[in-house]
Amino acid sequence: MLPWYDANARDLPWRARPGANATEPYRVWLSEVMLQQTQVATVKPYFEKFTSRWPSFEALAAEEDAEVMSAWAGLGYYARARNMLACARAVAAGGMPDTEEGLLRLPGVGGYTAAAVAAIAFGRRAVVVDGNVERVVSRLFAVREALPGAKGRIRDLTDSITPDTRAGDFAQAMMDLGATVCTARGPRCLLCPLRADCAGFATGEPETFPVKTKKPERPQRYGTMFWAERDGQVLLVRRPDKGLLGGMRALPTGPWRESPPGLEDAPVAGDWRLLGDTVSHGFTHFRLDCALAVATIGAQEIAHGEWWPVAEIESAGLPTVFAKAARAIRRDT
Ligand code: ADE
Repeated sequence: MLPWYDANARDLPWRARPGANATEPYRVWLSEVMLQQTQVATVKPYFEKFTSRWPSFEALAAEEDAEVMSAWAGLGYYARARNMLACARAVAAGGMPDTEEGLLRLPGVGGYTAAAVAAIAFGRRAVVVDGNVERVVSRLFAVREALPGAKGRIRDLTDSITPDTRAGDFAQAMMDLGATVCTARGPRCLLCPLRADCAGFATGEPETFPVKTKKPERPQRYGTMFWAERDGQVLLVRRPDKGLLGGMRALPTGPWRESPPGLEDAPVAGDWRLLGDTVSHGFTHFRLDCALAVATIGAQEIAHGEWWPVAEIESAGLPTVFAKAARAIRRDT
């Protein structure tokens, strides 16, 4: 894998050249936090934006929560952003540990991040397993046991092939192989450096690995998003810190419901009108369909929220589901 990596490593903004172990821990940590559950292509522009605005743990730690949450908008899994900020503040105050055990004690750093940062930033031997590595290893060893039950076995198998030196390059080599050659569909086995050793290839059906237990269907939820407009401004609220999209700026909604709620959760009295369009979004544990309601609001007092210029709605830092709604509403009204 290491010679393959030396020749084929993807050129990614958080990486040093293969073989060089002097990568900045801040950049490694930030990229690994962003890359959890999120594709490389999506992460790149966020990584560039964050590192130019906040080039160090200290700079990020000193920023207001709301600014960081807005900059994160669109990356999803917003608890990550809150944990990331807590971690930056702990490191700014007490320094960055350089071992896997030390890293695990930081707020918001789980097993994956601790292993990845220890290996990639500090050259430690650590066993790094993300989704790509899971796929490569399950094919290499033709693991018949299904995920998620097979996680422990896949970790042990990854341990058995992780080298004592360059564990960070090895991990990233496995990730790159998974992303470019050992892909979920249509793996390009003829290009693979592991083909001769691959038990999955030998079965003739490498695509059947990793075996996964079928997930139950995600339930469907419904809501209404309210677009209250006054003098070219729209009413935005901040969602509660705990819960879905916690701490993010948003359009007012009621709670998600089992059937479409109509207008009963309106944030203020008004001549509410439902648009023909709806907005759908897939979250990890459910699917959401939202109706869109618009009204022009008079001079009455508003209990919660802030007025935001409609022309600048793109810079409000709205999570994707609300940004979709804002685009649909501005198209339709
Ligand atoms: N996915 C998670 N971490 C990564 C890394 N360092 N390089 C490429 N893909 C990744």
